[in-house]
Amino acid sequence: MHTTTDNLQVVVLAAGKGKRMKSDLPKVLHKVCGLTLLERAVRSVSELSPTRVVIVAGHGEDLVRSHLESVDFGGLDVQIAVQAEQKGTGHAVLMAFDALDPNVEDVLIIPGDTPLLRASTYAPLLHNRDAVVSVLTSVVENPQGFGRIQRANDGSVKAIVEDRDCSDAQLSINEINSSVYLAKQSFLRDVLPNIGSDNAQGEIYLTDIVASAVRRGETVRGAVCEHSSHVAGANSRYELALLEVVRRHEINKHWMDEGVTFEDFRTAYIDEDVSIGRDCVIGPGVSIRGRSSLGSGVQVDAGAFIENCNISDGAHVKFSSHLEQAEVGPRCMIGPFARVRPQTKLGADVRLGNFVETKKAEFSDGAKANHLSYIGDAKVGRNTNIGAGTITCNYDGYSKHVSNIGAGVFVGSNTALVAPVEIGDGAIVGAGSTITKDIPKDALGVARARQNNVEQYALRRRREHGED
Ligand code: UD1
Ligand code: MG
Repeated sequence: MHTTTDNLQVVVLAAGKGKRMKSDLPKVLHKVCGLTLLERAVRSVSELSPTRVVIVAGHGEDLVRSHLESVDFGGLDVQIAVQAEQKGTGHAVLMAFDALDPNVEDVLIIPGDTPLLRASTYAPLLHNRDAVVSVLTSVVENPQGFGRIQRANDGSVKAIVEDRDCSDAQLSINEINSSVYLAKQSFLRDVLPNIGSDNAQGEIYLTDIVASAVRRGETVRGAVCEHSSHVAGANSRYELALLEVVRRHEINKHWMDEGVTFEDFRTAYIDEDVSIGRDCVIGPGVSIRGRSSLGSGVQVDAGAFIENCNISDGAHVKFSSHLEQAEVGPRCMIGPFARVRPQTKLGADVRLGNFVETKKAEFSDGAKANHLSYIGDAKVGRNTNIGAGTITCNYDGYSKHVSNIGAGVFVGSNTALVAPVEIGDGAIVGAGSTITKDIPKDALGVARARQNNVEQYALRRRREHGED
């Protein structure tokens, strides 16, 4: 459908506390698949290229402001209007007036608590812009809690009645108000200041603009959205969780359509801004968060958690590994039970095995730390082998120091590398060493007590105890 969207501005209603969430966080800062409800609302309209987006903030305004500062809306003109006291959705729009662009007559009003809105949702409203106000509705099985749409005989909308203000007959109407409206700015400026708060909640309801229009002899259009979940508002944690399930399913289906295998798509948690290449295999209970990207043919086994990482082609993240802000090169093998912390950079074919922790560590191609190690503030050269139980002692209680381990080095098991320390290319570190001095290229560094064997000691001891 062709939709002209020039000359459109948007108001996002986001000032409410969200009492039913029982949260210290404003409702619009709760998340679905990694994005806040507010971010989702603004993204849903950005494709329409509105001239301006006015966000009405109020409850938790400071939190909302600082959140908005952290988000990039790609050049969209986003402004904040303040509704200091939350006196209802109509009052929220009144508070947006000063921030509106006076030259743009068409105002799309959307709720900030409706996570699955998307650009296509608005099409039924935008393709006919004649009415002073039109409202997007949906037909649902359980309309409880929502405003009901009262239609006149000619099919136009007569009024919206809030759940708490409904008569028994009205309660059985199952066409509900989505809280998405397209209205003329001049109309809003005329009617909103005169809307009272004579209702069950004592609030100034935006829904009452419909009755105001009808009283003025205007026809109010009600456009039905075919996908009721796309316009479903979340007022409680449970409602939010149900919508998260819907979105998660959509995301996973999208990646399946792009050639990704999910061993159990119901339990894979893929955030909105993740990208996944062809022929990746995602195990059950996997979380891939933030802005992570996976190349092609990456295998992620059950229970892995990956946040803000770039993982190259053919890598394998094994069972229950935890990776944050890491760069993982092609064909790396990680885990099971590895912990890859921020600023870890792995070249190609690197292996980090079970119970290996890395932080701010750079591993060149083919380097390995296969068991029980901590490698932090370190560089590990090409094809170097870090033995089981190697620890970089990077912290002296005051500052962090670097371990610089060359290429082709063999670090024996149970070694402590006390940083700052350098180990030259091709060197060997004897097992059980505590290395406090640099080891030159191709040298052997050993730092442990010499072994002393006492002949026959064990036998004598057993005899003393009458055992032999
Ligand atoms: C609202 C509608 C209802 C509709 C439902 C759809 C009204 C009176 N009711 O009810 O008809 O079926 O949405 O989801 O409009 N907000 C403010 N300032 C306020 C109050 C609310 O900015 O003073 C914001 C909230 O942050 C929220 C949105 O407006 O994002 C809707 O408010 P909410 O309290 O969730 O209204 P509902 O009871 O869901
Ligand atoms: Mg709501």
